[in-house]
Amino acid sequence: LSDPNLFRYKEFCFHSMLHTKEHIETLQDFKIKHDDVFLVTYPKSGTIWTQHILSLICSEGYRNGTEETTTDTRIPWLETKSPDIHVDWTKYAEISPRLFTTHLSYSLIPQELKTKKGKVIYVVRNPKDVAASFYHFYNIFVHLKKPANFDEFMERFLAGDVVAGLWFDHVQGWYSHKDEFNVLFLKYEDMIMDLCSIVQKICKFLGRELDETTLNTVVEKASFKNMKMDTRANGEHLPGQFFNENKARFMRKGTIGDWKNLMTVAQSEQFDAIFKEKMKGLPIIFTWD
Ligand code: PPS
Repeated sequence: LSDPNLFRYKEFCFHSMLHTKEHIETLQDFKIKHDDVFLVTYPKSGTIWTQHILSLICSEGYRNGTEETTTDTRIPWLETKSPDIHVDWTKYAEISPRLFTTHLSYSLIPQELKTKKGKVIYVVRNPKDVAASFYHFYNIFVHLKKPANFDEFMERFLAGDVVAGLWFDHVQGWYSHKDEFNVLFLKYEDMIMDLCSIVQKICKFLGRELDETTLNTVVEKASFKNMKMDTRANGEHLPGQFFNENKARFMRKGTIGDWKNLMTVAQSEQFDAIFKEKMKGLPIIFTWD
């Protein structure tokens, strides 16, 4: 790996400040409850967006007296083990359903999940936009090796030399083992096109019914504009020393097709060729712009 902040474990790249190999290994035996929900994504695919939506759905639009709770406290990261981002698992055990967020790849996820115990929501985003979003994130997160330019970043991205490893492996791993899980696949692009339908889809998957007013509240609170201002959702509460910029840490642009502002035609064609080869046989089609 070219970035000294990262370490590889199996096919995944972890951040040494946030993760330990020991903790990741223990997750294999993590006990799943039937109503657990795991939100799974490759980075920059709409994680915080979906995390926020889940949090809104399960607390019915923040009406249960926990209005000030940040999204990542409600739906903590499974793999994160850091003194800066602390999860009080003892308190969390009393919550039902438990909601977790993770970037973990198929082979690193708790074994019990693979027996259809618990639910998985996997969000995928077109990888060109993922690369573009990731590139911007690499430029503001202090503890990552800053790429000299987008060309260098794209090389690293296509070699899996970035946090979470290779996008293609991640998506392939989860899609090709979908029958082992109780899983709902969602696309970032569909969320952009029609968020209300996706929120309804998530509700159905979770077995929750929201009345029309609450449904509209969830959609409204999960809009890009509102999330960007919402301090529970926009990442402003995270330790300031992690970032060299205070604004738009996780809510940057929130659009489809921003990759066009970074990728050359040749790079885009190179991407297409790899996509075609690696995604062969998988039912994933993207609107690229
Ligand atoms: S992370 O660091 O992996 O948790 O990042 P992640 O949350 O997966 O992805 C960040 C991108 O998601 C966009 N985003 C949204 N888009 C549309 N609507 C809403 N509400 C929203 N919230 C977050 C965010 O802007 C990042 O994408 P880019 O392309 O960089 O704007």
